[in-house]
Amino acid sequence: MQVDVILGLQWGDEGKGKIVDYLADKYDIIARFQGGPNAGHTLVINGKKHVLHTIPSGIFREGKINYIGNGVVIDPVTLMKEIENLEKDGADVLGRLVISKRANLILPTHKILDAASESSKGTSKIGSTLKGIGPTYMDKTGRNGLRIGDILEDDFIVKYELLKSKHLQLLQIYNYTFELDELEEQWFEAIEKLKAYKQVDAVYYINEALKKGKKILAEGAQGSMLDIDFGTYPFVTSSNTISAAVCTGLGISPKQIGEVIGITKAYCTRVGGGPFPTELDDAIGEKLRQVGGEFGATTGRPRRCGWIDLPALNYTCLINGVTKIVITKADILNSFEEFGVCTHYKYDNKETKDLPYDMVNKNIQPTTITFKSWGNIDATKPLPIELKEYVDYLEKYLNVPVSMVSNGPGREELIDMENGKLLA
Ligand code: GDP
Ligand code: IMO
Ligand code: MG
Repeated sequence: MQVDVILGLQWGDEGKGKIVDYLADKYDIIARFQGGPNAGHTLVINGKKHVLHTIPSGIFREGKINYIGNGVVIDPVTLMKEIENLEKDGADVLGRLVISKRANLILPTHKILDAASESSKGTSKIGSTLKGIGPTYMDKTGRNGLRIGDILEDDFIVKYELLKSKHLQLLQIYNYTFELDELEEQWFEAIEKLKAYKQVDAVYYINEALKKGKKILAEGAQGSMLDIDFGTYPFVTSSNTISAAVCTGLGISPKQIGEVIGITKAYCTRVGGGPFPTELDDAIGEKLRQVGGEFGATTGRPRRCGWIDLPALNYTCLINGVTKIVITKADILNSFEEFGVCTHYKYDNKETKDLPYDMVNKNIQPTTITFKSWGNIDATKPLPIELKEYVDYLEKYLNVPVSMVSNGPGREELIDMENGKLLA
């Protein structure tokens, strides 16, 4: 059996959570493979909104396993808060959640280090969510990290104290004041609660499931333009967010990867600092933000808004091997008579579809063409011609089929492009 992948093709917040929740019904296991509580994935089920940070977006589907893979970094405090909220909402988290013993833990001092590092950068700060992501991945690759499996071992406290003392030494290089005691108390309380949840050895668990014919849906966090290697470095997150990370983040072979479903908004957003060639720092951008409700699901920060960026999408389709595209938030463009689509970049006196390796220090001018919007989509009528024209253009440009178009935040507000029908 194969592992299908859903991931973001832009700078995050493409609507991955909604699409994972919708498709989860067709799978046995829904697995997060990277990132951590910097993610905020929104599901709207029967009109009720749920935001997930560490838990996979299949958690509301009965009989499905939701697996947090080894590539994820976990803050026990955020995770336990999330679990408590989900249990209040009626999800059987204890019965559905499985965590890899190899997933690294975010310590309270990782979050403090994140904040200290960001505040030392002044105006060139990344705009991190301050969830401790960067410092935790640094300790993972620096071979100092603590892992979920460690919490059940006798020497856990010794390991914790050792890592904490390294962090306290590091913090001395920053002129940053902090309070640790309360954070530590909450952290250990959450660790105790976390012991009740099922831990597994990543490799055997996931491969045995595949051998038994189970279908797995891997859920990406962030977006490909935030990838540590291929994103707009250094304005990126600290993990690989692309399809290759499914193998390292779950412990499966590349041969197991099936469909790679790339999610893009019908326009584009970014939260935090860094290059964004199609950004509209004007009244149109503000209208996109207001109509699209573009405020961060994790931090509440206003998202920067602009038109869709096809050179960037072409690049992210390439590095992910995208086999199908889902376009979200098509309904937001209804509020505009026409909208822009960036087809080329201009920099270094040339017009090209290629992204420069360093987007930060290039003055990139987008070449934009205009499309007509489509008005409300009516389930009883054929799809508007304007929407079809837009989708056709994207498919030809990217050479990838568009399988669905999302037309509202609700679970079933989707158009199946294979038959041109609105599901709800
Ligand atoms: P994720 O991080 O990729 O899961 O995306 P977020 O949840 O951070 O942001 C996407 C936002 O758009 C959420 O508020 C969703 O409820 C909302 N959303 C998703 N698809 C649609 C859509 O087609 N139309 C509208 N209006 N909202 C959508
Ligand atoms: P989802 O999964 C949008 C951005 C932050 C910041 C940069 C680094 O909801 O799409 P970090 O906390 O990782 O150190 O922040 O990456 N960022 C996201 N932007 N959606 C996300 O996740 C993001 N996760 C991180 O805003 O610019
Ligand atoms: Mg999000």
